[in-house]
Amino acid sequence: MFSHLKSLVSLLVIVVGITASSTSESLEYLTAKNLTSDYCYARSYAEVADVVKRCTHICIENFEVPAGVTLQLNLQKHSVLLIEGTISFGVAHWDGPLMYITGEFIQVIGGTNHLIHGRGEQYWDGNGGAAGVTKPERVMSINAKRGSFKNINIKNCPMFCVSIIGTDLTFSGFNIDNKDGFKGGLAKNTDAMGFVYSDNILIENSNIVNQDDCINIMASSNAVIRNVHCWGSHGLSFSSGLSNTDENNDIHNVTFKDCSIGGSLNGIHILTMPSGGRGKISQITYRNINIIDVTQRAIEFRQDYLRNGQPGNNIRIDDLTLDNIYGTVTGRSAVGVYINCGDGSCSNWNWRDVRITGAKNKDTCNFHPNGYSC
Ligand SMILES: *[C@@H]1O[C@H](CO)[C@@H](O)[C@H](O)[C@H]1NC(C)=O
Ligand SMILES: *[C@@H]1O[C@H](CO)[C@@H](O)[C@H](O)[C@H]1NC(C)=O
Repeated sequence: MFSHLKSLVSLLVIVVGITASSTSESLEYLTAKNLTSDYCYARSYAEVADVVKRCTHICIENFEVPAGVTLQLNLQKHSVLLIEGTISFGVAHWDGPLMYITGEFIQVIGGTNHLIHGRGEQYWDGNGGAAGVTKPERVMSINAKRGSFKNINIKNCPMFCVSIIGTDLTFSGFNIDNKDGFKGGLAKNTDAMGFVYSDNILIENSNIVNQDDCINIMASSNAVIRNVHCWGSHGLSFSSGLSNTDENNDIHNVTFKDCSIGGSLNGIHILTMPSGGRGKISQITYRNINIIDVTQRAIEFRQDYLRNGQPGNNIRIDDLTLDNIYGTVTGRSAVGVYINCGDGSCSNWNWRDVRITGAKNKDTCNFHPNGYSC
């Protein structure tokens, strides 16, 4: 997760200009598909740049992107992009990203049997981003305004799968399958979907199997994550304090609801880093979350990230609601609830119907939420 921010920040050099507002109708796949006679097709990597420049209705279909280059999709305003067949990527030891999508009022729609194959199995070496071979950090980077991304299938991310910067974006029907990465415990830092410097984001109706954060949220506001089901991962997560610039640590008004997470290290968690700038995490809600067989901490809020046991109070966590959070932990060291707040930096936490069973160890809390007894 740590290098995630760094890589997202490097994305910011490309800024999509703000322009005003008409909303585009969102196409369903079949309707969009019926129009494909009018689409411009790119059936090889070589055709992409021209098609993207010339057309607003684009279909990319079934090709391999040469090793060491990014599939750049700087879409024109109001573009519709269909993805068909298998898009795969030659293997090279470089930083990526493998795909980069920008635009305003764009719609990106995956065809029924399409697949974006990151070839992670060719890179995984048990080291993630920290060591080992250099891996493309992201499969799909997005920097967009007012758009939707629908029914996208991604397999075997070398590291992060989808990294988002944007406003007014909807992501639905993502299917991220990194289960090959469990073999030999080789895949690491395969964060599935994350966003930063973003506003008004919806992620819904998605299934994710991976080995690091399932959803990771940083420096953003006004987001809903609903009906997302995660397996394997590290958690439904927030991270803050990674930036030295205070306002880049703020997270405001985010709700996770009707989600499940299982077979994971943690269930829901907020991590803040004491060595970073100041900031505030506020108006956060987790509602109707099923946590299944978590091996470390089902519910974890800690302000000592990368400084184990010594929390900082540089990031305030105010107004944290948990409602109907239920499930199990498993294994010898598993804990139901772990709270490690800095001095005075947690306030106004209201919990109800939090029921985690199976822990052999007691909850650990240095701050006590209303409605839950640790
Ligand atoms: C797509 O086209 C087929 C054949 O013309 C038609 O039967 C079907 O209703 C169309 N579907 C949509 C969603 O437009
Ligand atoms: C919180 O964010 C959601 C999603 O963007 C939005 O619908 C809602 O109005 C926001 N609530 C407040 C109080 O700002």
